[in-house]
Amino acid sequence: MDIVLGLQWGDEGKGKFIDLISQNYDIVARFNGGANAGHSIERNEKRITLKSLPSGIFMEGVENIIGAGMVLDPVNFKQEVLKLQSFDATIQVEKYLAISKKTHLVLPTHSLLDVFMEENPSYHTIGTTKNGIGQAYANKVLRQNVRVGDIMKPDFKEMINHILERDYKQLIEYGQKLPPLKNLKNDFFDAVEFLKRFRMIEAEVFLNNSIKDGKNILAEGAQATLLDIDHGTYPYVTSSTTIASGACSGLGISPKKVGEIYGVTKAYCTRVGNGVFPTELFDELGDEIRTKGNEFGSNTGRPRRVGWLDLPALKYAVMINGVTQLVLTKADVLNGFESIAVCTHYQMENHPSKVISGLAGNEGEIPVLQWIKGWNTDFTKCKDASSLPTELTQFLEFLEKELEIPVSYLSTGPGREEIIRMN
Ligand code: IMP
Repeated sequence: MDIVLGLQWGDEGKGKFIDLISQNYDIVARFNGGANAGHSIERNEKRITLKSLPSGIFMEGVENIIGAGMVLDPVNFKQEVLKLQSFDATIQVEKYLAISKKTHLVLPTHSLLDVFMEENPSYHTIGTTKNGIGQAYANKVLRQNVRVGDIMKPDFKEMINHILERDYKQLIEYGQKLPPLKNLKNDFFDAVEFLKRFRMIEAEVFLNNSIKDGKNILAEGAQATLLDIDHGTYPYVTSSTTIASGACSGLGISPKKVGEIYGVTKAYCTRVGNGVFPTELFDELGDEIRTKGNEFGSNTGRPRRVGWLDLPALKYAVMINGVTQLVLTKADVLNGFESIAVCTHYQMENHPSKVISGLAGNEGEIPVLQWIKGWNTDFTKCKDASSLPTELTQFLEFLEKELEIPVSYLSTGPGREEIIRMN
């Protein structure tokens, strides 16, 4: 099993890369998160964003798995599948998708509780996507939740009605404005009927047997390393394990079976939601990168915060995941800048010595920037490594030396073909 994951705060361009390499795999399996993800893929100059569906769904013949480590919102899932089918009617979602019976469900009251917590001053405001992700994972850990496999149980409706009525009552007591409970129930049970069209399987057994049969599996990560529940910038993180080990626990596959670990990073940083961001740009340069890079949330439409590449944070992400190959995206967005900056290390305030920082943004640490010469080229003419401008090649060599891993792919634009294999 190989793994693809993000090394920053998400939106690194994982979807496009997985869409490209999924042709080398028999199975693409998502292991974490849910409809909070937004993996954008371009087809015939049209763009579609996948939320809960794995990014291998476009590749004829590739099996796609929603793994046990994910949380699935049936209402959102139904909308996503219908939208995908109207985008491209040839995609056979029912044929090529199977869902783990152990995947937890996101219930309608989970998103309402997410909104409540985000807006209530007595809680931290995380800047969540308001998809109820944290509530679903919290209920899973509390052992109060319902899973995909429960859908077929005779008392499923009763279980759901009980939870929805209990949560709804609590939200009313909190003074929340809510849609009628009847509508929430109808939409949910409708969507559950839709969900029944899909295969619900013991995904861990299927995946392990597939490995025995010599099949290649690609584990697709959502969100990214710095949003990991344990190793990210807590509390401004998501609620799942986004790192490489999450592929093993979320899919039920031994770490012994892991091969390549592809880490995807932008040539700069972005972040949506709250939380530390030491290299953040608040000036016109930041606005320019945001506009050129179309840095607006693919899920929520929020403008993304933008900043320079943070090398200590990237080194940390490479370490935590054991990344074996780097995929660099959006170097084309920095095209035309006279010079660009990279944070090479952190320094304590009023202290000259170099700080070896585990993770960016510790109290009192200031990012130290190194300016390097920018590149200026027509990326439509760059078809291989030898046609890249010297300054960009030097930047890639600098990254390889600092991170001690090869840059294997360079994305040069949003289109499907705009990616260069470097070795
Ligand atoms: P949640 O996952 O919706 O609970 O949101 C928690 C944090 O993770 C917020 O800062 C979100 O903006 C961020 N987040 C969640 N999913 C993504 C993603 O796919 N890309 C980027 N940020 C994300």
